[in-house]
Amino acid sequence: MATYLVAGGTGVAGRSVVAELVRRGQTVRVLSRHAATPAAEVEHAAGDLITGDGLADAMDGVDVVVDTTDGKTRATRAVFTTGAANLLSAARDAGVSRAVLLSIVNVDRGTFGYYRAKTAQERVYAEASVPTQVVRATQFHEFVPMLCAPTSKLGLIPAFTGTRFQSIDTSDVARALVDAAHEGTVSPDPIVVGGPQVLTMREMAAAWKASTAARGRVTSLRMPGGMGAFWRNGWNLVPDNHFGTVTFDQWLAGR
Ligand SMILES: NC(=O)c1ccc[n+]([C@@H]2O[C@H](COP(=O)([O-])OP(=O)(O)OC[C@H]3O[C@@H](n4cnc5c(N)ncnc54)[C@H](OP(=O)(O)O)[C@@H]3O)[C@@H](O)[C@H]2O)c1
Repeated sequence: MATYLVAGGTGVAGRSVVAELVRRGQTVRVLSRHAATPAAEVEHAAGDLITGDGLADAMDGVDVVVDTTDGKTRATRAVFTTGAANLLSAARDAGVSRAVLLSIVNVDRGTFGYYRAKTAQERVYAEASVPTQVVRATQFHEFVPMLCAPTSKLGLIPAFTGTRFQSIDTSDVARALVDAAHEGTVSPDPIVVGGPQVLTMREMAAAWKASTAARGRVTSLRMPGGMGAFWRNGWNLVPDNHFGTVTFDQWLAGR
């Protein structure tokens, strides 16, 4: 049995990684800035990747690090660069045997700020002295509802034209990350995991509206900018890869 540090273990993906590790009988410590809900089988270490506070203590006795941190705003994005470098240097000092990073399918083809920051994070991992493995996933099932919910209250549920998603359940992403953490070797190539089906954003928005009884009309819009182009090019898809087992409808039904 190994000891795993899940950096970002209080987040959407991180909580699924913690659950998967507990299910597999591993020792789990969560690292995040804020105290987690206490759970008997999981330790919590308070630490900040950007300042480096708490990282050395958090690494004590750790064999493997899984990084599911996020910096959604420009102000918090340094978690991908300074933060990743601090995490990996603390991991090296503690003799950690491997670190696994959660990233995004085709992230290096994106020209917008968030993807550039994630690509820089992958580079930090590639150059680390600790052996590392990147796992790239398609969008989570939570992603389209997150786009739809805010404006639905104002009567509009966006359905970006020419846009499809191959969304994946975070339990499937967690399975891939924990499998990668268990592998005997690491590869410079990312492991890629996609969801079980490709759906148009309109189909997903309509299914979300039906299952939540959200207000608002599903409305076709053109997403401007680099992100819109990325989606219309289908770069967010890996249609031959159906690692995920839980469909979007099943996820909606289980909420
Ligand atoms: N959403 C998608 O569709 C998708 C698809 C593929 C890959 N991904 C990737 O998956 C990763 C996780 O996304 P998510 O939506 O699960 O994120 P999330 O729910 O926002 O969780 C982020 C986690 O990072 C921790 N964190 C943030 N800044 C930190 C810092 N400075 N020091 C320590 N911990 C910090 C947060 O805890 P505290 O706030 O308590 O510190 C939290 O536990 C991201 O890197 C994202 O790019 C997302």
